[in-house]
Amino acid sequence: MSLPESYTLTILGAGVMGSAVLSAILKSKPTPFPGKIYCCTGSQASAERLQTTYGDSIYTTYGADNIEPVRNADLIILGCKPYMCQSIIDDVKEALNDKKIVISLLAGWTIEQISVGMGTPFIARVMTNTPAKYGCGTAIVSFSPGLQGSQFEEIRKAVMALVDTVGMALELPEKNMDAATSLVGSGPAFVLLMMQALAEGGVRMGIPYEVSKKCAAKVMEGTAKMVMESGQHPEALKSMVCTPGGTTIGGLMILEDKGVRGAISRSVEEAADIAARLGKK
Ligand SMILES: NC(=O)c1ccc[n+]([C@@H]2O[C@H](COP(=O)([O-])OP(=O)(O)OC[C@H]3O[C@@H](n4cnc5c(N)ncnc54)[C@H](OP(=O)(O)O)[C@@H]3O)[C@@H](O)[C@H]2O)c1
Repeated sequence: MSLPESYTLTILGAGVMGSAVLSAILKSKPTPFPGKIYCCTGSQASAERLQTTYGDSIYTTYGADNIEPVRNADLIILGCKPYMCQSIIDDVKEALNDKKIVISLLAGWTIEQISVGMGTPFIARVMTNTPAKYGCGTAIVSFSPGLQGSQFEEIRKAVMALVDTVGMALELPEKNMDAATSLVGSGPAFVLLMMQALAEGGVRMGIPYEVSKKCAAKVMEGTAKMVMESGQHPEALKSMVCTPGGTTIGGLMILEDKGVRGAISRSVEEAADIAARLGKK
C-alpha cells in the first residue's frame, strides 16, 4: 500500500500547528509531494488569511464546505484543538472512510480514539512543537497497529518524510507519547526559562539585556549543534570546557549545589505525568 501519485492532502484545522506543518511541507517539498492541498478552517476570516499567505499553492474552505476536501483527501492532517475535535469530526463524518490515512497533531488523543473518531485504522500520532514554525521543530511519530507490517512501509516512509519537514522526525511507540508531549511539546518553554536565566546572569554582570539575550540564545543554539554534529556525550563535551581551577567548573558547582540538574529532569517527569492525567479525562 502506498499513497497515490499526486495525492490529495487535507489539513483539517489549519491553525498555528497546521500552518507550521504546511509551511514546512511547501518549503521542503518532500517526496511524494501532494498534488493538491486543502486547508480547512472554522471561519471565513482564517480561510482568507491562509489564502493570502500561501496563494495558489493551496485551496481553502471553512464551515460546511470542509466536507468536500475531506471526501477528496488521501491523507488528512488533523490540526484542530483537542476539545473541538469531536464536533469537527462529526461535521465531516459523511466524507470519511476506512481507507484514509490520518496524521494527528492533537495532544492527548490516543491512536485508538483518533482511529474510532476518524473511522480508519491508518493513523500516525504526532507530537511536535512551536519551533516547527522556523523549520527547527522536533516531532515524535507513533504509528497505529493498522500501519505496522512491511506492506505499509511505503506509507510510513511518506509520513516520516512529510513530518520530517518540520525539522526532525523520530519514531517512538505510543507508550512514550506522554513523555514526548513533555520533552518535545513543553521542552521549548523549559529551555526558554534557562535561556532567560542565562541572559539575566549577563545583565546582572553588566551586559545590556538585548546583547545578553542574543548571546544566551546563540550559546544554546551552538551547544545544541555541537552535540548533534559531534555525536559526543554531553558530559564529555562539558568536561572539555572545564579547565582545572577555572571559571566553568566553579559555575557548574553552583548549578549542582542548587539542584538544577534534578529540577530540569523532574520538570520533564511532572509535565509527562500531567499529560498522562489529561489523556485519561
Ligand atoms: N500550539 C502549540 O504549541 C502546539 C504544540 C503541540 C501540539 N499542538 C496541538 O496542535 C493542535 C492544534 O493546535 P493549534 O495551537 O494549532 O490550534 P489553533 O491555532 O487554534 O488551530 C485550530 C484550527 O482549527 C480550525 N477550526 C476551528 N473550527 C473548525 C471546524 N469546524 N472545521 C475545521 N477547522 C476548524 C481553526 O480555524 P479558525 O481559525 O477559523 O477558528 C484553526 O485553523 C492541538 O490539537 C494541539 O494539541 C499544539
